Amino acid sequence: MRILYSTLAAVSLMFNACSSDQQSASQQTHSNDMVINDPHSFSKPAIARGTHLNWDAKVDFNTQTISGTATWTVEAAPDAKEIIFDTRGLTIHKVSADGKSVDYSLKDTVNGEPWMGQALHIPISASTQQVSVQYTTSADAAALQWLKAEQTRDKQHPFLFTQSQAILARTWLPCQDGPGMRFTFEAQVQVPAGMLALMSAENPQQVSADGKYQFKMEQPIPSYLMSLAVGNLAFQAVGKETGVYAEPSFVAACAEELSDMQTMLEKAEQLYGKYQWGRYDVIVLPPSFPFGGMENPRITFATPTIIAGDKSLVALVAHELAHSWSGNLVTNATWNDFWLNEGFTVYFENRIMEAVYGKDYAEMLQVLEYESLVETVQEFGATSADTHLKLKLEGRDPDEGVSDIAYNKGAYFLRLLESKVGRENWDAFVNGYFTTNAFKVMTTEAFVEYLNEHLIDAHPEAFADVDIRAWIYGPGIPDNCPKVVSTRFTAVDQEVHAFNGGAAAASLKTSGWTTHEWLRFIYQLPEDITVERMGDLDKSFHFTGIGNCEIADAWYELAVKRHYATAYADMETFLCSVGRRKFLTPLYKAMMQTNQSEMAKRIYAKARPGYHYVAQNTLDELVGN
Ligand code: BES
Ligand code: ZN
Repeated sequence: MRILYSTLAAVSLMFNACSSDQQSASQQTHSNDMVINDPHSFSKPAIARGTHLNWDAKVDFNTQTISGTATWTVEAAPDAKEIIFDTRGLTIHKVSADGKSVDYSLKDTVNGEPWMGQALHIPISASTQQVSVQYTTSADAAALQWLKAEQTRDKQHPFLFTQSQAILARTWLPCQDGPGMRFTFEAQVQVPAGMLALMSAENPQQVSADGKYQFKMEQPIPSYLMSLAVGNLAFQAVGKETGVYAEPSFVAACAEELSDMQTMLEKAEQLYGKYQWGRYDVIVLPPSFPFGGMENPRITFATPTIIAGDKSLVALVAHELAHSWSGNLVTNATWNDFWLNEGFTVYFENRIMEAVYGKDYAEMLQVLEYESLVETVQEFGATSADTHLKLKLEGRDPDEGVSDIAYNKGAYFLRLLESKVGRENWDAFVNGYFTTNAFKVMTTEAFVEYLNEHLIDAHPEAFADVDIRAWIYGPGIPDNCPKVVSTRFTAVDQEVHAFNGGAAAASLKTSGWTTHEWLRFIYQLPEDITVERMGDLDKSFHFTGIGNCEIADAWYELAVKRHYATAYADMETFLCSVGRRKFLTPLYKAMMQTNQSEMAKRIYAKARPGYHYVAQNTLDELVGN
């Protein structure tokens, strides 16, 4: 590994995550040395980096805190005088360097940017090998959600899970908390006896008698992929290298629902190269998990709302699995480059879905992505800088960058590139991209350079009419965005048309429809649909109270917009039992926008304690707290 100690080093961050023993000689010749400024981390890795973590921790459900010692192996520049870590809300008890206690300082948060937390400055010299930080998390650490036994399915044991992306790892671990800084780790974690602990690492499959667990992650990962889950959990294998963790009464149903995981893994490898992380398991968490899924290496964290009973929502697993390449292997350098993680992943997810479930299925997903993108662009405004693929999140919470732009505009941009050279050339390019850049970071600019060098220069005429800059640094959806037609949706649209023409719900031809057809149906209903007509739909299709959360969410949003009060009691139950932000935001937003803010506030007051910090943070702003 080459390290640049440029004059910029004092103010900038240098990233070269590629560790020499992980890379073949040919991969090393591709220089990935870059001087990058990550606006969301205080650390200065060009001066001193933590390359390996030894984490010793105790999880205490009584105080809802984790106490631990993080021992970092240090790699420092010759003139290094300090190493800087990101922290937020940590109580630091003691810091030592090579075993000797040192005077550290905790510099206060940037004014008005509470998400940044505090910089922990530890004095070192160039010869310092290790620094150790003894600390305790705060009871309201943003990454951690502590659930009481009643908030779990089996209601027997409490539960803890983490959510580190984007910059919440610093609330439970002093670390250099930017996606461009990778490290390996080992951990010893003490949890209450009888509970299982899991991390982004080699994981146990059985409960230990004394509640002690050991972990090891030999591939270097960035801090946002650090994770921990502790609960009453059981494991069930799905395939040779794949399996599911969930609460004991649920694990068989989860394994059944996710029975295609192993096939997905194999199809993914056929597309874009060998899976680099050993096992691939999924943990199905309690319903307060704020996301659909999180691509923690070796162990995807997932919402139980994907367990629909008919395998219709497993695209989420394809998505998180795809991150094992796009994101976890080739990582966005800063959160401004987030589309490189998510756009590639939505694209790759769809390729896996096509390979496992066929083209017509994948087309439905693409059309839904497009519709959602159009709506987001409308909401942001067609000229908004937040609709650029390359984001400007300096001085802002990086959570503001999470939108359909990175995901769906990103994926459509890649589909456009594919359409210009054909699938064979494109797949060879993507394969090379993942292999060449494995365990490295990628900026948008380096991606464009790579794209030019490895694809466009070989097919200049094919790209003559593609304005790459307009897609990446320009707003909205460019005119040459590929148009996708779904034949299955064309059939749905005919039924919507019949219904709009006055046909009774009971007369519609809906047999064989799966979740996505129902979603299309609900989305295509007229904005001014009457409550009588909604009642007719409910009588035939029982949308209100439906167990499928995607359909329920789409239906309740329409219900709120149309003041269809029949659905309100079930919607309230839904909002009080599910914590997935993607479902919550549209419903509360619709209530706020339709003079039903009192209902929004009343339900939110009741449901808020059960939501994770990231959902609370979004909704506090939307609904008020
Ligand atoms: N990495 C994201 C979740 C995330 C993004 C957490 C940004 C925090 C900040 C994950 O891979 C994701 O995209 N999840 C989606 C899945 C969906 C697109 C299939 C989700 O949670 O809905
Ligand atoms: Zn993702």
